[in-house]
Amino acid sequence: MRALRWLLAVLTLGRLARRRAQPESEKERIVPKGTPERGAENLVLLFFMLTMIFAAGFLFVYAYFNASSMPNELLGICIGGAMACLGGAFLVIGKRLVVTEELDEDYPGENPEEQEEVVQIIHESGSRITRKRLLIGAGTAAAGALGAASLAPAVSLGPIWDTGALDRSPWRRGRRVVDETEAPIRAADVLEFTFYTGFPEGAPKEDIASSLVIIRVNPAKLKLPPVRAAWAPHGILAFSKICTHAGCAIGLYRKPTFTPVEPNDALVCPCHYSTFDPYTGGTVIYGPAGRPLPQLPLEIDSDGNLRAAGNFSARVGPGWWNVRSKPTFGTD
Ligand code: FES
Repeated sequence: MRALRWLLAVLTLGRLARRRAQPESEKERIVPKGTPERGAENLVLLFFMLTMIFAAGFLFVYAYFNASSMPNELLGICIGGAMACLGGAFLVIGKRLVVTEELDEDYPGENPEEQEEVVQIIHESGSRITRKRLLIGAGTAAAGALGAASLAPAVSLGPIWDTGALDRSPWRRGRRVVDETEAPIRAADVLEFTFYTGFPEGAPKEDIASSLVIIRVNPAKLKLPPVRAAWAPHGILAFSKICTHAGCAIGLYRKPTFTPVEPNDALVCPCHYSTFDPYTGGTVIYGPAGRPLPQLPLEIDSDGNLRAAGNFSARVGPGWWNVRSKPTFGTD
């Protein structure tokens, strides 16, 4: 039995050696030689070119428009078109340019000789292609353009190196609080059980740290941290309008309808229902937000208008700061 195994091993090695010694041209073909298909090659090149055009279109649209006016449908058409064209190119290659070989036997295993056959099959399957370098170059460029288009949205995740812009806030002591028409918001006009949106007078309203949600509550019910005792004159509170979970606008003000489970009114983000308690300084009482809403200290000037009495209690914005670092300004 042992001798038989040795004999088989020697015979196999001999066969392999003979095959290796054979020059490429003299090797017996496994896959029949196919006739060149220039038309199919041109079609593949066209598909690759369209892939690049669509991918470049995606990059252009993404770079040209700002977030608020981004035409998402156009982005979808561009990236979808690029993927469809790349798929079309592979379809033509598979159907028209690769000579197909049907195997009656099991798929080759790990035997070195069988693996060599697989390599030979792959090599010979491309016999219809006459402009290999051109096709490989165009394919690489198309895949590269599509890859760049797919990765481009990562830019929207925020700055990596220069994060200073995220720290800037237009609020400082004495800055008047105005509405969207730049009209000052008077303390007397702020009523209970409703909420108002405020902005810093004369500053860009679209800055992430600009917008405020302003409410009035019963001052007797406030449980603010001692350091914020003077931040809510007559029970008027101001918080950043940007949810600390993922940056949606705080757009709901919940009024208690069933006191056993909703003892107080609360500020709610409609995106994932993070709920913030204004009485305790914007602490999270429900939902995925990882930290309180930053509070802005308020004061009332001699004309009865609301003014900032300082900067926010913490950095404004979504979860970024929850994982990046501790807040470095404010009192929290
Ligand atoms: S963005 Fe506000 S709860 Fe998710």
